[in-house]
Amino acid sequence: MMWHLVKIINKEWLSRDIFSMEFTLHGLKPAPGQFFQIRINESYDPLLSRPISIADYEKGRLLMIVKIVGRGTEILSKKKTGDEVLIFGPLGKKLKIKNKKSLIIAGGIGVAPLYFLAKSLKKARIDFTFVYGARTPSELVLKDEIKKLSSRAVFITETGSNKAGTALSVLNELNLAEYGAGYACGPRAMLVELKKMNLQFPVYAFCEDFLGCGCGLCLGCAIKYKGSYKRICEDGPVFELKGLEFND
Ligand SMILES: Cc1cc2nc3c(=O)[nH]c(=O)nc-3n(C[C@H](O)[C@H](O)[C@H](O)COP(=O)(O)OP(=O)(O)OC[C@H]3O[C@@H](n4cnc5c(N)ncnc54)[C@H](O)[C@@H]3O)c2cc1C
Ligand code: FES
Repeated sequence: MMWHLVKIINKEWLSRDIFSMEFTLHGLKPAPGQFFQIRINESYDPLLSRPISIADYEKGRLLMIVKIVGRGTEILSKKKTGDEVLIFGPLGKKLKIKNKKSLIIAGGIGVAPLYFLAKSLKKARIDFTFVYGARTPSELVLKDEIKKLSSRAVFITETGSNKAGTALSVLNELNLAEYGAGYACGPRAMLVELKKMNLQFPVYAFCEDFLGCGCGLCLGCAIKYKGSYKRICEDGPVFELKGLEFND
């Protein structure tokens, strides 16, 4: 892992507050769940880099999808095609995908790392269902790309005109006995509720909480897992949901 100075070869707005950035960076062998720390600007203000997942990587093209939630992502959103950005990584443990029929559950911007996962499952010819919930239809940012990957993709929004709900509300309509593995990424509240559902197959949760250093040193990202503390940045960011101990 190292710092890379990369040029944005394509920047696009996918919704009002979600944008994609594509870079050229050859020679990586990234796995789903891995991420980069992005330096927001040269003046070190904000001081800390921000973690952003690998949303896709193919033939040296690295895709990231970012939702504006605060100052760092707002500054990042002003970058244009042709601008250069410093990124550090890839970071995080490589997720080993299971050769089992899989259920992918994405909530909001949690779709970013799960899109890369879905492409990996497809390449490995592993059957999967992709359930993707967002607040509004315009926030279902990768809908067309996901439809191309899976004939069994279910999209739902909290403001849907036909049927309103969340990614988790869709699970009740599926035959859950069919699945042997699950992968989930979304707001902390979604993971907490999903854990309570006690699904009968292992679910791997992508944790996207706050990070400090991003490289294992500050312990600012500690999360309780199977009775001890783990660092999201070094030991994760993907953990088996059953072992995560949430305070909520
Ligand atoms: C491993 C990992 C991968 C990630 N991948 C992506 C990705 O692909 N795309 C993406 O858009 N985001 C991703 N995130 C989240 C992203 O890093 C944060 O949204 C970003 O750091 C916020 O920076 P900011 O300066 O804009 O917001 P800040 O100014 O730091 O915070 C603004 C507000 O947002 C809240 N907030 C900030 N970060 C988080 C968070 N992680 N969880 C919940 N609330 C938060 C704060 O409470 C605050 O109210 C990832 C996080 C991790 C740990
Ligand atoms: S963010 Fe510093 S140890 Fe994880």
